[in-house]
Amino acid sequence: MLTRRTTLSKFLIEQLKNSPDGQALAALFIDIAAAIKAISAVAAKGALEGNTGSLSTTNVQGEVQKPLDVLTNDIMLHHCDWGGLVAGMASEEMEQPYDIPAEYVRGRYLLLFDPLDGSSNIDFNVAVGTIFSVLDHGQGAAPTAADYLQPGKRQVAAGYAIYGPATVMVLTVGQGTHGFTLDREIGNFILTHPNLRVPEDTDQFAINASNERFWEPPMQRYVQECKAGKTGPRGRDFNMRWIASMVADVHRILMRGGVFSYPRDNQSNKNGRLRLMYEANPMALLIEQAGGLASTGRGRLLDEQPQSLHQRVPVVLGSRREVERIEQYHREFDAGTDKPFVSPLFNERSLFRPEARA
Ligand code: F6P
Repeated sequence: MLTRRTTLSKFLIEQLKNSPDGQALAALFIDIAAAIKAISAVAAKGALEGNTGSLSTTNVQGEVQKPLDVLTNDIMLHHCDWGGLVAGMASEEMEQPYDIPAEYVRGRYLLLFDPLDGSSNIDFNVAVGTIFSVLDHGQGAAPTAADYLQPGKRQVAAGYAIYGPATVMVLTVGQGTHGFTLDREIGNFILTHPNLRVPEDTDQFAINASNERFWEPPMQRYVQECKAGKTGPRGRDFNMRWIASMVADVHRILMRGGVFSYPRDNQSNKNGRLRLMYEANPMALLIEQAGGLASTGRGRLLDEQPQSLHQRVPVVLGSRREVERIEQYHREFDAGTDKPFVSPLFNERSLFRPEARA
């Protein structure tokens, strides 16, 4: 079947043939794909190249940087800055946006990325990824910091790569969400998962449940109801998964369904943990394009007007009906009409009731 495979470039030429700047966007994807292949090769070397452990530097979020955070950031910058396609770039690893060097032509797109998401997992050989978002700046003056602050609904493209047993790139240019697997022998991304659809219903949720006591009541209610399973108000059992690598958790949800959340809490994640512009927004666009929903719990994520480049946001995304339910619980809580969860373990027939123990 080698002769009939759809390569990334063939797919992009086909998808973008009627869009005015389609060729430039397709060319940008080819540069991003080259960067992803390079990162995939570096990540696959593991400890062999001495890239594990931590550096003495911190990024703009105050997080300790890993050698691969810095290296993968440079790989993204230097695969994408030279070709006259990008007007500027911003990343989790840089406080200020990156200006295109004077020797290169400036293009029209703003590229925002997290070069190595989930990098705390890299020392343990757990899947990590690269997430990216493309905004339109138009041809003209160099972008100011304010030009980056566009809501996620204005993204012209978004995607991520997951470096697992296989390297898979998932992308959207606003016409569905599609997955490509890297064929390492040939060096091409091949379309393997066209038109991904997130099932509307699910019995899986992904959340860092160790923070449960710090969440707002609507999130506590949702997760407690799921955990109560068949005997609770949901009347069925749920399963929980948490890889602590957003790309890996979202990838599973795109393939199998589920709901992923990193909600706000009253401890260290007061505005959530994930970054709006280069983590939440691209994932939200991919999920919406696959028929799912992405929310802050109180509104559509893609409508959020960014106030700053590195701001955080609460995230709930995945199977449509579960995201709607979580939004409903937030509305009820805000209106004071919510129904707090009562554990079935403490209902009338519970073994834990004093009269049952007597
Ligand atoms: O910074 C992002 C991230 O590493 C995500 O990839 C992941 O979903 C989350 O943080 C993990 O958070 P925690 O350490 O609380 O499990």
